[in-house]
Amino acid sequence: MKQYLSIHDLPNIKETALEAIELKKNPLQFQELGKNKTIGLLFFNNSLRTRLSTQKAALNLGMEPIVMNFGAEGWQLEFEDGTVMDQGKSEHVKEAAQVISQYCDIIAIRAFAGLEDKAKDEAEEVLEAFKKYATVPVLNMESSVGHPLQALADAITIEEHKPAKKKLKVVLSWAPHPRALPHAVGNSFAEMALAHEDGFEVVITHPKGYELNPEKTKGATIEYDQDKAFKDADFIYTKNWSSYKEYGKVANTDTDWTISNRQMAETDNAKFMHCLPVRRNVVVADEVIDSENSIVIQQANNRTYSAQIVLKKILENL
Ligand code: CP
Repeated sequence: MKQYLSIHDLPNIKETALEAIELKKNPLQFQELGKNKTIGLLFFNNSLRTRLSTQKAALNLGMEPIVMNFGAEGWQLEFEDGTVMDQGKSEHVKEAAQVISQYCDIIAIRAFAGLEDKAKDEAEEVLEAFKKYATVPVLNMESSVGHPLQALADAITIEEHKPAKKKLKVVLSWAPHPRALPHAVGNSFAEMALAHEDGFEVVITHPKGYELNPEKTKGATIEYDQDKAFKDADFIYTKNWSSYKEYGKVANTDTDWTISNRQMAETDNAKFMHCLPVRRNVVVADEVIDSENSIVIQQANNRTYSAQIVLKKILENL
């Protein structure tokens, strides 16, 4: 694999998830592959899981991780070409990406959407600039519009916890949140579920006005009645996102949408999933996240094996 910017960079989602499950049984078996190789993890935004699990994955493969928090530690980067750099930004990404490429064999980037300018966010300024100017493979650790490492961890988790059924019903449910959050996790989960080789029934439920980018949800059933959407579901994947249409706005905080036993009772004993971090009793009630059906901790554990299988595939191609 040359890069991992989107879930569609995987040749086969199910096969990759199965490979990751095999890798999980003996995570140190490919230590030689990453020997004397360095990965640079560049964070333009906060992280717990991505930061630690990607380092852990790299260490499992014998790699040396270097972490840099651009917000607090790096020079402020300019991304526009031809700019007169007489304001606050000290370094152009053109130099920065080439310089970092000399120190690292793989560059991983986290850069969230600003949620103010849809066109700018969808252009993926940071990720695309590194893709353009870096001379080594680039890995997406959550960009403006996608979180493919999370989506692969989700596919691994579904594979491990799925009931013996011909066709799984997977529901992506919006839930309230006081702050405006990006669409990346919802987008990538929808893309993964819709492209999965097992052919899931994919239902997305949210209040009217919270439709995700239709390019990401083509093929899913959109259901505005949350209780109806949950009927007979096998997996409930919950996430807040701000409005896509009224870009970045929080138009609804209706606590009826908070996931509780009321909606879960409609399901076929569904497992509860969330990428974390999660606001308890806002997004999901304690009674659900603390229940036996909650697999959020296992899901977070799979972030290591998602990153590890992707890094392995990139290392094999270096
Ligand atoms: N799920 C996830 O990406 O978590 P972090 O934001 O803590 O990395």
